Amino acid sequence: MTEKLEEIRKRAEIAIREAKTLQDLDDVEICYLGRKGELTGMLRQLSSLPDEEKKSLGSKANDIKGELERMLLAVRRQLLENRLTEIGRTERVDVTEPGRRPPEGHLHLVTQAIREVTEIFSRIGFVRTRYPEVDWDWYAFESLNMPKDHPARDEWETFFMDAPESKKGKMVLTPHTSNAQVRELERGQFPVRMINIAKCYRRQIDVTHVPMFHQFEGLYVDTHVSITHLRGVLDYFAKEFFGPDRAIRLRPFHFRFTEPSFEIDVSCAVCKGTGEGPDRQKCRVCKRGWLELGGAGMVHPNVLKAGNVDPKKYSGFAFGWGVERTALMKSGTKLDDIRVLYKNDLRFLKQF
Ligand code: DAH
Repeated sequence: MTEKLEEIRKRAEIAIREAKTLQDLDDVEICYLGRKGELTGMLRQLSSLPDEEKKSLGSKANDIKGELERMLLAVRRQLLENRLTEIGRTERVDVTEPGRRPPEGHLHLVTQAIREVTEIFSRIGFVRTRYPEVDWDWYAFESLNMPKDHPARDEWETFFMDAPESKKGKMVLTPHTSNAQVRELERGQFPVRMINIAKCYRRQIDVTHVPMFHQFEGLYVDTHVSITHLRGVLDYFAKEFFGPDRAIRLRPFHFRFTEPSFEIDVSCAVCKGTGEGPDRQKCRVCKRGWLELGGAGMVHPNVLKAGNVDPKKYSGFAFGWGVERTALMKSGTKLDDIRVLYKNDLRFLKQF
């Protein structure tokens, strides 16, 4: 048995020395020291020998095992080092090569517009607010001078929540950002200079409407606020947002929550408000010199009262416009289907 052990040791030592690759070395290790390896097999056989022999042969076999393991470790290190040197010699990294840019996204057209609107109004002291987008009928309609069953409500194709009613009526998905008006007045801090930008929901979907869209709502309430303030602020906005050569005009209109009420138009960028194209034809873009932006007006006394504000002491103006519409008007993009804004098609979105 001793001879057999010696013979195994010799063969194993030669095999280890001759190994050329790490793989060769692994194979040798498995062959002699693996679970079914030769030396392992011998060690297993020892258990059936008488005690005396078991002791001396056992210690010899274990010595051989230890030696082989040390050899394997040394040779493995050497082979690994050779391999690394080889890689260093044959493979090159050009550290001066310019990197490859990972694809970089950008903010959605609507988010860009929301940020810009916020920034423009913040410069004249308006603070962006957040109010619920699921709100009571009271804030969405009734406090805005639209009693229950008033036909003016038909303008807003409202989603009603299937939820219990409260003293403030049913719950609705806010069909406009005007719900913020009375909520803001209730805070009782003057002057009020609010810019509320939020999602709105209406039961409508076609090429010019989506059921979820955005509006920005301004509210300014203080003592002695007049229409000239309204004009000044909206003119400032139009010039900042659309460009210094643009102007606004007020066109009489009707809303329940403002008196007087207006529609606001901005002068067309192409014909500069003249309505005429080259050759004295109608301007291709606007046809009449002006583009419609959205509604505005002087806050109705009933709305002030609903917010616990004394209309004899305070007055104010409000306006509410669609973000999507205003943003597209700025970029000059005419969409034949507004729904593409929310289809997440990168080919479209990348352009802005
Ligand atoms: N809330 C109105 C709408 O969604 C827009 C509006 C008009 C808001 C006049 C106002 C306003 O604050 O004064 O159509």
